[in-house]
Amino acid sequence: MSTTDNKTPERQLLLGAFIPSAGIMGASWRHASAAPDSFSDFGHFQWIAQTLEAARFHAVFFNDTVNVDADLEVLERGPNSVRWDPLVLLPALAMVTRHIGLIGTASTTYNDPYNIARKLANIDHLSGGRVGWNLVTSLGGGENFNLDAHVLHADRYERAEEFYDVVTGLWDSYEHGAFVQDKASGRFLDTAKLHVLNHHGKHFQVRGPLNAPRPLQGYPVIAQAGSSDSGRALAARAGELIFTAQHTIEQGQAFYRQIKAQAAKLGRHPEHLKILPGVSPVVGKTQAEAQARYDQLQQLLEPKTFLRSISRFASLGFDLSELPFDEVVPLPPEQFDTNTHKSRQKLVFDLIRRERPTVRELFNKLTAGGHRILIGTPQSIADDLQGWFEAGAADGFNVMFSGLHEGIAAFASGVVPELQRRGLFRREYQGATLRENLGLPYIANRKATGSAA
Ligand SMILES: Cc1cc2nc3c(=O)[nH]c(=O)nc-3n(C[C@H](O)[C@H](O)[C@H](O)COP(=O)(O)O)c2cc1C
Repeated sequence: MSTTDNKTPERQLLLGAFIPSAGIMGASWRHASAAPDSFSDFGHFQWIAQTLEAARFHAVFFNDTVNVDADLEVLERGPNSVRWDPLVLLPALAMVTRHIGLIGTASTTYNDPYNIARKLANIDHLSGGRVGWNLVTSLGGGENFNLDAHVLHADRYERAEEFYDVVTGLWDSYEHGAFVQDKASGRFLDTAKLHVLNHHGKHFQVRGPLNAPRPLQGYPVIAQAGSSDSGRALAARAGELIFTAQHTIEQGQAFYRQIKAQAAKLGRHPEHLKILPGVSPVVGKTQAEAQARYDQLQQLLEPKTFLRSISRFASLGFDLSELPFDEVVPLPPEQFDTNTHKSRQKLVFDLIRRERPTVRELFNKLTAGGHRILIGTPQSIADDLQGWFEAGAADGFNVMFSGLHEGIAAFASGVVPELQRRGLFRREYQGATLRENLGLPYIANRKATGSAA
């Protein structure tokens, strides 16, 4: 990546922020400092995006689901019943920020490609080229889309592959310079630079062209977070920012090498995929202060409901909440399959086999949904991030914030300056678009025949 500061090393780490689209995660809404109505108040999201922009984060990222947990006790205890549609939130955030990237999740299983291509193209223009799309196949939701059950994993990924082709094909509808707008002659569009898609596939029939100008970035940045074999195949082909959950540095290195090698086999430049494992930081001026903060948050979380919910999320096949809190978790079966989150199931099974934790220990490790929890000072957290970055286990991190302002402020004012002091993180935005800031190339129009795409 190019930098403007010649004292900094060539390669610097990327920081994205995972912000729950429900505004706040887990039991953090009960914390004394939690903003009231953080699930519905736009001002809450505005504060977060502006604070992270001041800290020079590359992007804020919003997750999404299209269904609500059926477990009423889970709904009773946490903000899991409501969340913003990221594609509604992003345009509003585009109006109150200038540099930070805006990445939203949209499902390929429960949307149509034309609508998604159009909305993202519009938001890319609204934001001056700062939008990204987290392409997911969703963890559930069939019941809300005329189906009896969630679409099968293999079918979801088959549809996702074709969905991506249609969306990107639609983004290539107009070549650069197509809109001549010649007032004298009355010619608005040069139809020689218009490309009709005419897609006839297994899942979609889409004629095109798109009724939106080509995105400013060519294509918005594509983020991908599936880690099963099919998820990795899609990431290697289409992903540019790869979100992942990895627990040990060795697992992180193996994932990093494998995805980049798989992409290289498809003719892609390995540096055009950026691997961002998730980390959930709890920052204190001292280790004891950070630990006290974490313990306080844990005390707000009702263990039984949480354990039941995480058992389901990670498809464990057994319910952790039914086991005694201080007993060692039994070994999971060698083979157990799931139709939802294959990679998270594997991650938790591996953790149980490797560490043989008690239920209590697992409870304390899984509160970030299985992502690593870093409890420490700005220095110790920077040491950890630096270690992973320099060992080739990450290009940067997807920093998973609970939504509490104090946690975001502590990271922005403590860890970010520490990373900057070490020359590991930039002090200024270096480009105008999200692609430029991430060191990713502009995507030229594949249909263009002329010199300028
Ligand atoms: C950081 C991160 C964020 C994710 N965000 C979402 C999300 O917002 N919505 C969703 O349905 N899945 C989300 N996922 C899950 C994946 O996109 C994917 O659906 C899941 O990993 C199941 O696919 P797999 O079996 O290929 O791993 C996320 C995963 C990670 C690691």
